[in-house]
Amino acid sequence: MGRDTLTITDNRTGKTYEIPIEHGTIRAMDLRQIKAAQDDFGLMAYDPAFTNTASCKSRITFIDGDKGILRYRGYPIEQLAERSTYLETAYLLVKGELPKLSNLNAFVTNITLHTMIHENIKKFMDGFRYDAHPMGILVGTVGALSTFYTDAKRIFDPESRRVQTHRLIAKMPTIAAFAYRHSIGMPYAYPDNDLSYTGNFLNMLFKKTELKYKPNPVLERALDVLFVLHADHEQNCSTSAMRGVGSAHVDPYSAIAAATAALYGPLHGGANEAVIRMLMGIGSVEHIPAYIRRVKAGELRLMGFGHRIYKNYDPRGKIIRQIADAVFEVTGPSPLLAIALELERIALADDYFVSRKLYPNVDFYSGIIYQAMGFPLDMFPVLFAIPRTAGWLAQWAEMLLDEEQKIARPRQIYLGSDVREYAPIDHREE
Ligand code: CMC
Repeated sequence: MGRDTLTITDNRTGKTYEIPIEHGTIRAMDLRQIKAAQDDFGLMAYDPAFTNTASCKSRITFIDGDKGILRYRGYPIEQLAERSTYLETAYLLVKGELPKLSNLNAFVTNITLHTMIHENIKKFMDGFRYDAHPMGILVGTVGALSTFYTDAKRIFDPESRRVQTHRLIAKMPTIAAFAYRHSIGMPYAYPDNDLSYTGNFLNMLFKKTELKYKPNPVLERALDVLFVLHADHEQNCSTSAMRGVGSAHVDPYSAIAAATAALYGPLHGGANEAVIRMLMGIGSVEHIPAYIRRVKAGELRLMGFGHRIYKNYDPRGKIIRQIADAVFEVTGPSPLLAIALELERIALADDYFVSRKLYPNVDFYSGIIYQAMGFPLDMFPVLFAIPRTAGWLAQWAEMLLDEEQKIARPRQIYLGSDVREYAPIDHREE
């Protein structure tokens, strides 16, 4: 039987070290004892973009990228998408277990009662330019919420964390919808607490002059399933931002603003928009072979394909593909769907994509659905930020309560100048 250790021989000194392996991982700090000389700082690991470094132990989300598996708290995403709701899934993420009926009812009531925002926040939002990007408004406004809820600074008080969690899950759709209405010059539509979480969101987005907005039940459920699929995805860029900024013990509104800002980036929350632009650019099915040729020549990327973690069909992509048909029955067919389907068919039969394990990811079909439901492209990352709030909060609380965590503070390899003398400005050469 082998031992759960790693033996390292430092060829600079000839010394050998035995380092424990736990959970398939060595501790980077165990490398520090490896020194070339007495005054040497000790060995460090260099891992730009943390592609092979675990930054935490987590019990929230499990992904097996090779097998295409995604589970929240052990429950397969397929079962949650089919049988759960977004708010039940949010409860599961933040509390760790599926709720009993009474717990779920209390949670839903709490979220529903917190959907309103302070009138001064509305005035604050009025200050944005008429054409402001709704994601920029969301970043700024959710950060500003910290000035309205000063009790949020008590991050080690479980009751304060519970209330801020309800407020954030409840208010993100309100701010998002107000941001959208502001960007199109429409008056804000207030929350309707008779409606479901997604039904109310659709109300705040699309209500016109009718006294009572009635969401289409198919679209309401489709959006709810999309929210379930986007609720968490372990240590991605925005979650790392949430944990990193939260590790400075800032209030959760400021940390969520940082996470939302990370999600604003086109490499993270913006890929589904890029898919739509790509499909519109291709224009028709006949142009696909030429487009694929350019992708294979390295001139372009097939947007919505490939993933850092999934080297198989993204399980979220499969579920979204099924939702698409139900949505198009209500909205009418999307002209982009035929192009997407043919693109997928050709790519999945082509050795370039097969050998590189490039499969459709979550973004390949989600944008087509959002567009068919009437969302403008600018709103796509916002539709990602709303459901991801539950995941961010679950990860934030786990980080705060983890005794091994400290303020995030990576090391660097310094390659700049050695020490040099300051020269006054009139002594410097032009
Ligand atoms: N189209 C064409 N070729 C690709 C693509 C693509 N979409 N993705 C990867 N490749 C090729 C790449 O050129 C490379 O080929 P080679 O080995 O010949 O140089 C190989 O596949 C490996 O690519 P990589 O860039 O090392 O892979 P990565 O893990 O760093 O990148 C990715 C992952 C998602 C950034 C990338 O696949 C990509 O740019 N996809 C398109 C954008 C996209 O759909 N992003 C949404 C990701 S899902 C949302 C989320 O979960 O946050």
